[in-house]
Amino acid sequence: MGNKIIVANWKMNGSAELVDKISNIFNDSFDTKSKEIIICPSYIHIESLIRNNINKKFYVGAQNCCDKASGAFTGEVSADMLKNLGCSHVIVGHSERRENYLESNELLKNKLSEAIKNNLIPIFCCGENESERKDGACFNKIEEQLNVLFDVEALKSIIIAYEPIWSIGTNKTPDDKEIKDMHIYIKNYLMKKISSNNISILYGGSVNPENANRILKISEVDGVLVGGASLSTEKFKLICNTI
Ligand code: PGA
Repeated sequence: MGNKIIVANWKMNGSAELVDKISNIFNDSFDTKSKEIIICPSYIHIESLIRNNINKKFYVGAQNCCDKASGAFTGEVSADMLKNLGCSHVIVGHSERRENYLESNELLKNKLSEAIKNNLIPIFCCGENESERKDGACFNKIEEQLNVLFDVEALKSIIIAYEPIWSIGTNKTPDDKEIKDMHIYIKNYLMKKISSNNISILYGGSVNPENANRILKISEVDGVLVGGASLSTEKFKLICNTI
């Protein structure tokens, strides 16, 4: 496997100060060998983060994009705008957006299409809730979410983030075997239907400096998506340095 991928999802947090602090970590002396770092701040901090990224030590992504190309959609930001700003990636289908903003599979399909048309690499999130994990419905749930991908044209390169909802922000993580089994399951399911061999599968949910090493050592895990711990530059640096 190639480089491990580490994504920071700041969610609706962060400030100009955090943009400067995080940029300072990735200075000349920061070693990016065998890793790719992608930082996803809120829209308003994207431009300054890109400007600060003088050494090109990390990629900058958005947390969302509009499902439409342009037009009368007040408050929305298009994939084309993000690409023009210098983004390389965009998170699509985070469980918080699925739940709080009722993002449907159909809507997500259109967001993915917009991202791909504009050469943004989607970071597509999927994950089961606690009861689906307990009663064994988690594999069906993930399949249902992944099925959206098969309707998206020209899907060349994609990052999947497996994020069990019950693990996000709770300090609870699945055990190594559960993570490994789900990653194998996702890879096999996608390989049956998508010809691209550029599919990376990340784990997300309560990743911190204490468990990152253990999770990243699982060979089927191509990287991690970090929420809360990415807001602390010290913690995020420790996670990046576990590789
Ligand atoms: P967490 O969030 O690391 O705070 O659990 C992960 C995510 O939701 O992306």
